[in-house]
Amino acid sequence: MALMSIGVLSLARWQFAMTTVFHFFFVPFSIGMAFVVALMETMYVVKKNEVYKKMAQFWGKIFLLSFAVGVVTGIIQEFQFGMNWSNYSRFMGDIFGAPLAIEALLAFFMESVFIGIWMFTWNRFKPKTHVIFIWLTMLGSMLSAIWILAANSFMQHPTGFAINASTGRVKMTSFGAIVSNPQLWNVFPHVITGAILTAATVVTGIAAFGLLRKHSNHFFKKSMRVGLWVMLFSGIAVIIAGDFQTQRIIQDQPMKFAATEGLYKDTGKSADWTVIGTFDTDKHEVKSSIEIPKALSILAYHKTTGSVQGMNSLNKEFHAKYDKKYGSDMNYYVPVKTLFWSFRVMAGGSALLLLLAIIGLAMTGKNSKIENRRGFLWILGIATYTPFVFNSAGWFITEFGRYPWLVYGLQTIADGVSPTTTVGQMWFTNIVYFLMFSLMGAIMVFYSRKIMIKGPDNLDMAYGKSADSDPFSKEAFGA
Ligand code: HEM
Repeated sequence: MALMSIGVLSLARWQFAMTTVFHFFFVPFSIGMAFVVALMETMYVVKKNEVYKKMAQFWGKIFLLSFAVGVVTGIIQEFQFGMNWSNYSRFMGDIFGAPLAIEALLAFFMESVFIGIWMFTWNRFKPKTHVIFIWLTMLGSMLSAIWILAANSFMQHPTGFAINASTGRVKMTSFGAIVSNPQLWNVFPHVITGAILTAATVVTGIAAFGLLRKHSNHFFKKSMRVGLWVMLFSGIAVIIAGDFQTQRIIQDQPMKFAATEGLYKDTGKSADWTVIGTFDTDKHEVKSSIEIPKALSILAYHKTTGSVQGMNSLNKEFHAKYDKKYGSDMNYYVPVKTLFWSFRVMAGGSALLLLLAIIGLAMTGKNSKIENRRGFLWILGIATYTPFVFNSAGWFITEFGRYPWLVYGLQTIADGVSPTTTVGQMWFTNIVYFLMFSLMGAIMVFYSRKIMIKGPDNLDMAYGKSADSDPFSKEAFGA
């Protein structure tokens, strides 16, 4: 059977990609929503305007939904380390065990505790106190991100380790070096600003759908203003953080950078930037391209001169360095087309969202009638889905770009897979996960739509009820 001829390695990679992409739909959204909701509640505390309280409660409900689905998908994600990547887990366990344990025990715990307190105590604390809980929830989610990214950053740029001579595994020599890994402190701002941009775009887009449905105009217009302002600032911030990321990969993973720019040959003193291009990945050459002179030097070094190394010479360097250990058949070229187009989707996406934010802010000033601009509202509505694509494109660059390494320079992808897992087992778990994710996605969309259709005036959530409501009562659990 043709399907059974697909190997365990390909199926394990497919499964990890599927679970990660799906999980990462919810992660940036819930991190960003925690920030946007905290901002809304703070505006309520400062301006004492009830509409902001309603906003925090309405958007908070969508935030809770995404948080719940995010947790479930995250748990499934972790199963795979033992099931499909046991050689990797043995090799890396000493390093990634500590950050992941701290994440679960401290950061995730903090986030979950404060989200619960925030949800059930709207009428039990003064607004000034209550708002602290959502900021603490947000802080918990950011700390959580730091620890997960610390583990991922080691895979991209290993620091603070030594190879145990008898086991051949990595052992931690400096926890400080793992936490201060420069890769981590470049990824973190980019991921967080991307997350806030994601949430702001969704708030703006859902508000646009609300206005198209012609209900709660005042509420949705105000929500849209908040969404657009956050889109503007986070859109600028994600670009600045992305620029830092670019500088980092030029140094640490030049093959990844060369692939994002579709560069096979080394450039001259000034590097031209390929805007779009087609590639022959077998012959390792560019087939056709449209280029802007000197623009790649500007992107890479912020000046008009500076050469960039191409994939062909980098490939030779890798062979010279690793052939003794991995043999001369090893392929060090990363998937060029995936990286090249992902970069353009991600970076072009930020420009698009920034433009929408600027036009949107201009259209929603005092006395504006944005509710009548139906064409523009549709564009904003459709834009709701785009940051999820941009986030996935970002991770495609990060993860496909470290090929053939699982842990950069230390373990290859092929060496990390479980030795005993069978093709049949892989197919089974792939299909089960796919069905579960489809179900969870459908539940998320169904309930988000339900919340939207009910609108802000019908918040029947436990946390909107009176001061004497018991969070553990049957009603609170909807029984
Ligand atoms: C001009 C704008 C942007 C630039 C220059 C940029 C640059 C980069 C670079 C170079 C990477 C790869 C880093 C690595 O492999 O270590 C990356 C990854 C990523 N990007 Fe972007 N990016 C931009 C916009 C965006 C936007 C708008 C989003 C999301 C809404 C986004 C989300 C991500 C994510 C989630 C990753 C993977 C995590 C990471 O490595 O940081 N990026 N970006």
